[in-house]
Amino acid sequence: MGILEGKRLLVTGVLTDSSIAFSVAKLAQQEGAQIVLTGFGRLSLVERIAKRLPEPPPVLELDVTSTEHLDSLADRVGEHLGGLDGVVHAIGFAPQTALGGNFLNTSWEDVATAVQVSTYSFKSLAVAALPLMKEGGAIVGLDFDATKAWPVYDWMGVAKAGLESCSRYLARDLGKHGIRVNLVAAGPLRTMAAKSIPGFGEFEDSWPAKAPIGWDINDPIPAAKACVALLSDWFPATTGEIVHVDGGVHAIGA
Ligand SMILES: NC(=O)c1ccc[n+]([C@@H]2O[C@H](COP(=O)([O-])OP(=O)(O)OC[C@H]3O[C@@H](n4cnc5c(N)ncnc54)[C@H](O)[C@@H]3O)[C@@H](O)[C@H]2O)c1
Repeated sequence: MGILEGKRLLVTGVLTDSSIAFSVAKLAQQEGAQIVLTGFGRLSLVERIAKRLPEPPPVLELDVTSTEHLDSLADRVGEHLGGLDGVVHAIGFAPQTALGGNFLNTSWEDVATAVQVSTYSFKSLAVAALPLMKEGGAIVGLDFDATKAWPVYDWMGVAKAGLESCSRYLARDLGKHGIRVNLVAAGPLRTMAAKSIPGFGEFEDSWPAKAPIGWDINDPIPAAKACVALLSDWFPATTGEIVHVDGGVHAIGA
């Protein structure tokens, strides 16, 4: 029996098969979960990618900046799963001007977009899913360590710092519903989101060398395993936590 046997999950953020969310969805199914995916924009692409999963799941449209999409989400997911035991938030976006060393010149409008899509949406998604989580459950988001100012990550770093804080407040407010809220802080992985960051190569070169146990930028499985573990019953007393899945880089100076 898998550690997610009987669990019903909503997994956001699948875009390609290198998406972290794709590996989470695949592992979750292998561990016994029933899942529904959401896709943003290029739905036919997401549907094609979904067919590569062990059991092709339904794909629902979700733009986390759309009140209409959020308001109807519980009903749309409910048609497929009835209820939810877990939600995965694997969503991030920042306009090009907010990345790559342009920190001092980024406009508020572009920062606002980054924060709405990458930070505030963690709360929006949690609230949208809440009516389906009557028996409690787990919400997991994807983080990039926001305790430091990194090269090129810029306003996305600020958005992730907000995500870390948002996760703690959600843990505070959803605890009474029996819902745990945690983040997985992954090291750099070669996905569409990562490739869109100008200068991302700097991370790719330095991270594996700094990591005490090494780091493979092409392997999202360690991060996906942590998500699956946090969605399972094996972290029953953990909430408001950030689990680092980065080869140990966060713990090392210089
Ligand atoms: N790749 C990395 O190095 C890395 C490291 C740590 C954390 N993360 C985080 O992991 C998460 C998943 O990213 P990924 O690296 O798998 O890249 P990805 O490009 O595969 O996924 C990003 C997802 O965000 C979705 N998205 C963007 N705007 C949206 C909107 N308005 N509404 C709904 N969805 C929207 C995209 O459709 C896409 O599916 C992000 O939060 C990212 O910041 C990535």
